[in-house]
Order: sequence, then C-alpha cells, then structure tokens
Amino acid sequence: MIETDVLQRLLLDYQKGSRAYFKHALHGWSMAEAASDATISSNAVHILFKDVDSGEVKGASNLEGPQTIENWCAAKPNKQAIEFKLALSKINSASDLPPLKNPDFMDHVDDLSLLSHLHEPAVFWGIKNRFLSKRIYTYSGMVLIAMNPFERVDIYTDEIMRKFGGKKRAEMTPHIYGIAEECYRAMLEGKNQSVVVSGESGAGKTQSTRYIMQYLAAVDSLTDSEPSNLRSETEEAVLASNPILESFGNAKTTRNDNSSRFGKFVQLFFSNPYSGKVHITGAKVQTYLLERSRLIYQPDTERNYHIFYQLCAAAPLAEKKMLGLTAWKNFAYLRQGNAGVIRNVNDVEEFRTTQEALSTAGVPVALQWEIFRICAALLHIGNIEIAPNRDAASCSEIDAALIKCTELLGINSSEFIQWITKKQNIIRGEKFVKNVKSEAAVAARDSVTKVIYTKLFDWLVKTINKNLMRESTDSQQFIGVLDIYGFEHFATNSFEQFCINYANEKLQQEFNAHVFRIEQEGYIQEGIQWTMIEFTDNKQCIELIEGKLGILALLDEESRLQNGTDANLVTKLNTHFATPSQKFYAKPRFGTTDFVVKHYAVSVQYASHNFIDKNKDSMSDELKQVLAKSTNPFLRELLADDQVSAIAAVPAGKVVGRASAKTPTLGSVFKASLQDLMATMRKTESHYIRCIKPNMAKEPFQFEGAMVLSQLQACGVLETIKISNAGYPNKLEYAIFATRYGLLVDALSRATFDNKALTMKIVTSILTDPSKYQFGKTKVFLKNGQIAFFENRRKDRVRHLVVLTQKNFKRTIIQRNYERTKAATITIQTFARSFLARKRLTEKKKVRSAIVIQSLWRASRAKAVFSKQKSLIIRLQSAIRIQTARKTRLSLPMRDSATSVSLENTLSTLTKTVVVQVGQIAALQSKVGSYESQINNWKGKYEAASSEIGILKEEIVDLKAERDMYKEERDFFANTLSNCIQDGLLAPFGDFPFIPDTNEDSCTVARFSLPESKLKPEWTERRESILAHARVSFAPMPRGSELRDSLISSLKTQNEFLKSTVESLRSVQHRSSIYQVGIRSKSIYEEDDILAEAERERQKALLNRRITNRYSVMRRPPMAVKSAEDP
Ligand SMILES: Nc1ncnc2c1ncn2[C@@H]1O[C@H](COP(=O)(O)OP(=O)(O)O)[C@@H](O)[C@H]1O
Ligand SMILES: [Mg+2]
Repeated sequence: MIETDVLQRLLLDYQKGSRAYFKHALHGWSMAEAASDATISSNAVHILFKDVDSGEVKGASNLEGPQTIENWCAAKPNKQAIEFKLALSKINSASDLPPLKNPDFMDHVDDLSLLSHLHEPAVFWGIKNRFLSKRIYTYSGMVLIAMNPFERVDIYTDEIMRKFGGKKRAEMTPHIYGIAEECYRAMLEGKNQSVVVSGESGAGKTQSTRYIMQYLAAVDSLTDSEPSNLRSETEEAVLASNPILESFGNAKTTRNDNSSRFGKFVQLFFSNPYSGKVHITGAKVQTYLLERSRLIYQPDTERNYHIFYQLCAAAPLAEKKMLGLTAWKNFAYLRQGNAGVIRNVNDVEEFRTTQEALSTAGVPVALQWEIFRICAALLHIGNIEIAPNRDAASCSEIDAALIKCTELLGINSSEFIQWITKKQNIIRGEKFVKNVKSEAAVAARDSVTKVIYTKLFDWLVKTINKNLMRESTDSQQFIGVLDIYGFEHFATNSFEQFCINYANEKLQQEFNAHVFRIEQEGYIQEGIQWTMIEFTDNKQCIELIEGKLGILALLDEESRLQNGTDANLVTKLNTHFATPSQKFYAKPRFGTTDFVVKHYAVSVQYASHNFIDKNKDSMSDELKQVLAKSTNPFLRELLADDQVSAIAAVPAGKVVGRASAKTPTLGSVFKASLQDLMATMRKTESHYIRCIKPNMAKEPFQFEGAMVLSQLQACGVLETIKISNAGYPNKLEYAIFATRYGLLVDALSRATFDNKALTMKIVTSILTDPSKYQFGKTKVFLKNGQIAFFENRRKDRVRHLVVLTQKNFKRTIIQRNYERTKAATITIQTFARSFLARKRLTEKKKVRSAIVIQSLWRASRAKAVFSKQKSLIIRLQSAIRIQTARKTRLSLPMRDSATSVSLENTLSTLTKTVVVQVGQIAALQSKVGSYESQINNWKGKYEAASSEIGILKEEIVDLKAERDMYKEERDFFANTLSNCIQDGLLAPFGDFPFIPDTNEDSCTVARFSLPESKLKPEWTERRESILAHARVSFAPMPRGSELRDSLISSLKTQNEFLKSTVESLRSVQHRSSIYQVGIRSKSIYEEDDILAEAERERQKALLNRRITNRYSVMRRPPMAVKSAEDP
C-alpha cells in the first residue's frame, strides 16, 4: 500500500480537467477528463471521469481499477461518466492510477521518448496525433515509427533529400532520410551500419527499404554545391535489383498488393572515405525463407508470384506459342485466388520493367527467355492431371501439360510421370517401387515446382549479387538494410509463421540489447550513478525455440524419422515443455494438434499440420535424378548447386544437428542463416524502423486504434519504453530545464545561479524523493512522469501569477474608481451645501427687507396720523385761540366798519375786472391763431398760382415762336407758289419742301407731298393740316390761250385764298387770365373767325367744283375747326 503523502502528491495530477487514458476495445486507448478533483473517502480513491468528446456527466458507473472503459462505452449513451474507484490497499504505485495524458505541448512531439508520462497510451496517442495531422514519421528514441499513409505523400523529392544531406537527425523532422543520413555519417566514421525495417505485411517495409536505398544511392551528391542526377552504374544496378526480386518474390495478398514473400538483407558497400569521394562500390543481397506454398496454392483474392501473370499477359505471340502460354485462368497454379489482375497494376508494363531490370543486372535477353521458359514449365506442371485413383495415382502419358512441361524442361516425360505416381523404398538394400495415393502424387508433382522455383530464385539472387559486386568489397564499410516480415499472428498459424516469429524474437532480442546498451551509454556519458535496470528479456523464449533441445531440434528429430508425424511432434513438445518451469510454452485449451508459444508480443497458437513436410522440404531422389538428366542446360545450371546452396547459408564449420549428414531441414537452414545474420548485425550499429499499417482497408490516413496498438506491441516499441522507464526516461538539458521551470523558484536565484545550479535548486526544492532524479554533466535525469509533474507545478505557478497580476490590476482599477467617485461626491456635496446656504441667505434677506418695509410703512402711517392730529390740534388750538381772541376782541372797542366794507368792495370789483380781462385775452389769442392759419392757406394758394403763371408764360413764349414759324412758312410758301405760278410751274423747285409727283393724261398734274424728313416734330399734331397735302394740277396749255388766262385767274384766286389763310393764321391771338385755370379750354379764336372759316370752306368747295377734275385743295388747318368745336 502506498504512503498517504505520496498518494496525496500523486493525486495532485488528478484535479478537475486533467485528462487520462482508458483502454478501449475498438480505439485502443481513449481519453477521458476528470470531472472533479480526486478524493479519498471510505478508504478508496474516487475520480469521476467524463467522455472528452460528449463532455456530459450523467451519473457514474462504479468501476474498480484496473480500469477498462469497455463498460463505460457499452453503457453509452446513457452513461457518459465513469467513476474510477480503487481501494487504498490496492494502490501500490502511480501505475495503478489511470495513465495520465501528457501536457498539451507534447501532443505532437517529434520524439516520443521526450514524453513526460512515458506509457503505452501516451505513445499510442503521440503517433495518432501526428498521423492524423499527416505526419507519418515519428521517433521513439532510436526507433523511427513509420505509419503507412496508403497515399502518395510529397516528402520524397530530391529537394527534400538534399535538405537532409549533412544534417543531424535531431535537426530535422522525423523522416526515413534522417535515419539514412545518420547511417551514412556513422559509416563514414568507420562503423558498419544496419537498418532493421520491420512490420507486418503491407506496413511499408519494402517501400521504406526502397527509400533508404534511393537516399544512399544519391547521398554522395547531396551535399555537392551543384546537384547532379547522375548515378553510377553500381547504384543503378543496386536499384534495379528491386524489380527483379519483387517480380519473382512478391505477390498480391489480401494485406498487400505487392507483398514480399521473403526476407531480404541488402548490404551496400561504400568506397573508403579516406580515398576521395565516397560512393557505392557494390552490394550484396541475401534473402530468407521464400514462401514456397504460394507456388501451388493461393488463398482467395491472392495471387501467385507476379512473374507468372506478367508472362501470361505480356509475352510476345511467338514466345507464347513456344512456351504454350495462354491466359492466367488456364493455369491451375494461377487461378485459385481468382484474382489474376490487380487494380492499378499493368502486368504488361511490369513485365517490361522486369526485363529491363534483368538486363541492367547483366542477364542477356536469351538467358531471360530461359528463365521464363522454366517459369512456363512450372505452370504446365501445375496443369498435369493426376487421376484420383483410390490406391494408385495415375497420369496419362499424353497429357498435354505433361508433354509441354517435360519438353520445356528437357526431361523424359515417362520417367518424370513415373516418379510422380510411384515411390521407391529401399528395405535392407533392396529397392521396392510402390504406387502412391493421388494426394502423394500431387505433392510430389508440386514439390518439383517448389524446388525448381526456389533454385531459380536463388540463382537470380546469386546473379544479382555477382553483378553488384563490381569492386572488391573486402574490408569495405557497408550499410545493411533488413526488410523482414514482422511478427505474424493469424487465425491459423503454420510453420512459416513459426519461422517468422522466431526471426522476430531474435531481432527483438538484438533490439532490446541495443536499446539497453544505448540507454546505458547515455548514463555513462553523463556520469550518473547507474544501477542495473531490470527488464524482461525474451532470451528464454528464444532458447525454447532454438535451444539444443528446443522446438526446432525436436522438429528436426521428428522429420528424420521415417514415420514421423505432426501429431507425434506435438506430443513430444508437450512432454518437454508443458511444465511449470517453462513460461513461454503452453498447451492450448482445446485440441491436441496445436501448441502455443508465448512470444514477447503476444501468445501465438501454431497448428502443427504439415510442419514435418514443410521442414523436410523434400523432393524424391528419383525425381532429382530425372531433373539432373535434363537436356535444358539452364535447368542443369540451376540444379547444379543443389545441396550446396542450402548448406551455403550455414556458416562453414558449423554442423546443424545430425541432419547435416543428409539434406538439411528448412528449419535448420533458416536457423543457421538467421544466426549468420545476427552475427553480421552484431558487428554493426543498428537502426530500427518500425512500419505500421494503420488500417486493414488500405484507406489513406485512416487510423484504426486497436490494429495500431497490437502492432506497437508487436514491434517492440513498447518494450523500449519499459527499458527507458526502468531508468530515467525524462532527460532534459540544464539550459532547457532552467528556462522552462525557472519560475518555480525566486527571482534572486534565477538571477544568480547558472543553469545547472538553478536546475539543481529547482529539482531539490520540489522533489522530495532523491531517487526520482539525478544530475548528469549536461542533463538532469528524472524518473517517469516527473516532467509532467514539473509541468503541472509550472502551470499552477503560472496560474497563481496570473491570478496575482489580475488581482493587483483589479485592485488598482477599483481603487482608482473609488478615488474618482470620492472626489466627485465631495464636489457635489460642496455645490449642494453652497446652494442651500445661498438659499437660506436669500430667505434671511427677504425677511429683513420685509421688516424694514414694514417699519417704514408703519412709520409713514404713524406720521400721517400724527400730522393729521397735529393739524387738527393746531386748528383746534387756533379755533380756541380765535374764540379766545374774539372774546378778548369783543371785549375791545369797535373799529371803523364803513372803511373796511368799502375796501372789500373795491377788492371784489378789482377781482371781477381781472377775470373779465383774462377772458378777453384768451379770445384774442384764439383769433390770432385763426388768422395765422388763414394766412398760411393763402400763402400756399399764392405759391401755386405763381407757379401756374410761370408755366403759362413759358407756353405763351412757345406759342409766339410757333406763330412766327408759321408766318415764315406761309411767306415762303406764298413766295414759292407765286414763283411757281409765274413761271408756269416750270421752274425748278429748289429747296421747296414738296416733291412733284406724276403727270396725268394730257395735262400735267403735280402732286406735292411733304417728305417725312421735312416734317418737324412739333408738327406732328397737325400732320393733316395745311402742309400735309397739296395738290396742284396743271394742264399743259399753250401760252396766251383763254384757258390759260382763266387758269391764271383761278390761281390768283387761290393765292388770295392762301393769303387770307395766312392772315387768319396771323390773327391767332393769345389771351390769358392769371387766376382762371380754365382759360386754356376757351377758343383762341373769336366767334366771327368761325363764321369766316365757314365762309372759306364754302368758297373752297366752289373753287374745287370750278376746276374740272383738276383741283388743288389747300384745306384750312383743322386746328382752327377743332378749336372751334372745343367747349
Ligand atoms: N511511405 C509510403 N508512402 C506511400 N505509400 C506507401 C508508403 N509505404 C507504403 N506504402 C503503400 O503501402 C503498400 C505496401 O507497402 P510495402 O512496402 O509493399 O509493404 P510491406 O513490404 O511491409 O509488405 C505499398 O504498395 C504502397 O502503396
Ligand atoms: Mg514487402
């Protein structure tokens, strides 16, 4: 049971809002948030958690630790909260409480080993967070975890490669190039390197291996100032080895369309770093455990090796005919998985790539066709029909497939079929030939295929290696890349899985040792106190498999027996290992044919069926001989080093059990090659890449929690965590630690201490348990979770400081507001008081004024009364005095009364006179006034009259001037006229104002008219008067005639008339009166003038009549007539 104060300290991390992880069946690990602080009551710890996603808390299901969230999830949606409840007695360490989430800033950390809480869920979530944000690579200490994106990601360009050139791993984000670069740099320093790429099928191992090889092939030019894309021939050949091995060794499986069915260790040799530019000088490929069963059987949706389908699809017609190739569906070996075509893969193109790669690897085209010939032959072998007779299998001699395959292989068909359907036994030196059952015959047939194909594959590897070894690679540095199948665990696990898992156990052992060594080196470097850390090793499990009396040994033993069976093997295993002391072996609960091995990752149940056969890997000696006699030289070459190749993998001088005398078993060969590999790897510095397949459906960036978690467990990443956790997993440089957590101590310490001293002060002041930390040379080493603890303390401190700052700030604001309010209140009060005081003063003033007014008023009233009384008193006094005086007077003698009477009379008379005179004066004054106004009236009238007179005078002058003008005109007119008459009107008119007009008929008529220009403005009134129109007509008559005389006389009369007219004009007079305004309206002519006028008119009419048709009318000025008509 844990101590209370330690528990209290642990529970500090379980405050409300803190997050922890719970195991989840589907999601691996899911996250929950504490809905309240952790409490201790009734001897148990209680923490209420809620779902982070929904955030609701509805009741709690009381779960006792160790926690599982399944119940919680099952209870959804009704129950979204879980109460973690664990009795105090059951809590022994922090690991009994729900695993805590790391601080948020670590959510996407590049290296998971930097996590403060270093446990399975933290690693799991670290990878998940990164993967969901499309970062597929993550470091976990020295391991690179590579998630398969199942999508092209743009991080493998030459540009990016160049960025990694010459960089340290920590300087760059996690990337496979980072690992490759690290290997390269370390290799240059003289140490051989190896990279172990592991993971389950389809996790991306082969792809990763390819990227590493690409990088290493280009690495020598990455740091050049002028990047070149030129690769050396060797580098090209190294890269070309991939398509060959993939065509012959890869197949479509349900998990991976291009699954490598063999393990591969590629060593790239580099030139001496001290002799100029480093470049790849050669390479060596080593393969492991090619899957043979695939050749004869493929599960549904899976394929045989790619090369067969490529051949069927792409071989030219002639070759097809020669090799008897048709569609893949026609071959029994190809059609079982019923998936001959892979989506997005073009077998025709792939075939071309294979051919090119073979050419690059130095295989001439003719030889290539020999290879394909063998492949075709194998396909035909699969088509050989074995009649399923009950006891004796048989096959027709004319079976087309048989004929074709034996033709292609160059062997005798009847011999071949004989040793397929029959078996030779040697009993006591005597040979017996025996019929075999059809299954045995089919097995024998297929064993030929398996053996030949394996030989072919080995030959290809050998050829590739020959081609890759351009220069002598002795004592050269190398980088090895191991692309090996990861831990496998299926529903049914067979011999292949057993071998694979055995290999993985071996690799895991190396891996653990390596991690352990690295960890230890780190501690030694930093010079900290170091005690051996304990962690569970898988050594015992390996011992169980490969030990002297291990499973493999027992398998070999059973395989060598004539009547050895799988069932016997299991019985043997059970008797040897199903003991309490053996912790890594178990009998399954049901059945007797299976056995269980408890591997480091998970326990695997193996089905023993076919273990012996697969281990024996046999082909009968008779068949071997038949093949050895082949006329096909290539086949003979393939089989030439039979035995040799198998033993070659076993290091020289080693003896693999007693079986070495005969054909070595597959198990022993595999074990030997594995030991060889381990020996090679131990001489190198290892790097680890763990590929993880994030989902089954190969969907881009889909994360299936449970699947990833099981792979994490299998790939050993979690093991490294255990190793780290046993030591001091939280390591931080002093500078970083002091900077981040400096605020946990006082400012003075921060200012005075250096980073290391400050770190020591912080750590020792906060961690009370000295076993939790150690101080190295450059780093502080802390036990698991301590960084998170510091982080939480830092968070508390920051929160405290923030609250303090807020508090002070708020206080300042409130204080300032208070001061302001106070000042304002005082001001208001002052104003109010002064207002009230002024109001009171005004009141007082009013009262005072009222009193003064009242007093004055009262005084005046009193005065009036007083003066009235006084005058009354005086009058009274005077009356009394008069009385008194009278009395005294009466008592005196009488004065002259007559005199006083007369005086009084005089006075009254005088008074009256004055009154009368005053009246008179007033009357006179009014008269004077009326006169004055009359005078003023007259004065006005006078002024008006005199101005009228002035106007009239001016008019008279005008009229006179007019009259003179008329006179002049008349004279001139008369003159002219008389001149005219005298001259018989022949004289020129000179400046006569009239213009003569026309002649008419026989007599000359002159019409005169006054031109407009001659009209004077003042005449306008009289336009139609005297001068308006004059017409005279003359007849051109001979001088001295009668008519002429009469005419002259009439003219004379007319002249007279004109004269009189002028006279009358002259007689116009003007009369005027000063005072009569109406004077103008009176006629300016006398009455007889009117009569004379009438007379003149009459005469004129007469004259007119006398002058026949020709007349001269000179009318009297109408002005006179008009004037006569005026009233
Ligand atoms: N880094 C990667 N980027 C993109 N796709 C990848 C990557 N790694 C693997 N893949 C995809 O996953 C498939 C399987 O990868 P592969 O390396 O053949 O798996 P394994 O060798 O582990 O069986 C590849 O064909 C490819 O489509
Ligand atoms: Mg592969």
